[in-house]
Amino acid sequence: MSDTPDAPLTGTTKANFTDIYTQPDPRRYYKVLSRLDYQIPRRALPVFREVLEVSRRDGRSRTVLDVCCSYGVNSAHLFAPDDRQPAAAWYADREKGRLSPEELAEADRHRYAGRHGGLTVLGLDASAPAIGYARRAGLLTWGWAEDLESGDPSPELAAGIADTELIISTGGVGYVTRRTFERLLRVMRAPENLWLAIFVLRVFDYSPIADLLASYGLVTENLGTTFRQRRFANDAERAAALHDVRRRGLDPAGKEASGWFHTDCFLTRPAAEAEVPAADLLAPALREAA
Ligand SMILES: C[S@@+](CC[C@H](N)C(=O)[O-])C[C@H]1O[C@@H](n2cnc3c(N)ncnc32)[C@H](O)[C@@H]1O
Repeated sequence: MSDTPDAPLTGTTKANFTDIYTQPDPRRYYKVLSRLDYQIPRRALPVFREVLEVSRRDGRSRTVLDVCCSYGVNSAHLFAPDDRQPAAAWYADREKGRLSPEELAEADRHRYAGRHGGLTVLGLDASAPAIGYARRAGLLTWGWAEDLESGDPSPELAAGIADTELIISTGGVGYVTRRTFERLLRVMRAPENLWLAIFVLRVFDYSPIADLLASYGLVTENLGTTFRQRRFANDAERAAALHDVRRRGLDPAGKEASGWFHTDCFLTRPAAEAEVPAADLLAPALREAA
């Protein structure tokens, strides 16, 4: 993704969190990322809820695919939006520290039982431990640990996601590229009816994915509001992010220059359903989320 020989590759100077993505349960994930004020799932929640509302076709239950879902982080927010104890605090609780991963999954299963609100949430992530946990905890109706950057979906994944109506993602693009979206849309029964709400760090260029979606007759709009994702882990990350956003012609003032990774949010809809500008359609949610 780099366009000059002396420039750091976009995203390659980001801190490496691989070890927290592959623990047997989410405690370390939330602990480490909380230290950096990771907050994009919480900020994305009002947008996801509103998109679910406005994209509803006939009152049926909805099928959502969360790409790079990790331990079911977005499901945890969707299922317990007004909870007095947010997910990070829930996992940081001293009592939870004494539980085995199996006991913690069981506690989560109780926490989220009966709170799915008619949503079928499917998950894709490269991490088998994260997907396994999210399934055991009742945070995913079904999930698959596969890396579509490097290969085609398994027959089980292809069949399982065929009826997806909405794709969501936070913190995923960059790890996944157009390749993953190509492989996902190829196995969907009606890709021309899909909606997508994808939060993307401003260091990354979303246009290759938006172009792919356009080839299915889907229209992508940037909602025009940016959202804090997390603080930079160190000076190198900050310098690289400033370099990357400037190279993309974006102004980091008040955003990356203030010490935070910021995301854009892209809403994609079938052309026939895209009469009202996305930012108008989601205006109340954007005020809540920003
Ligand atoms: C920053 S986390 C985001 C998790 C969650 N969506 C959130 O916002 O908290 C990135 C996730 O991408 C996953 N990931 C990395 N490379 C991937 C790939 N090629 N395919 C699918 N998932 C991948 C990691 O395992 C990790 O769970």
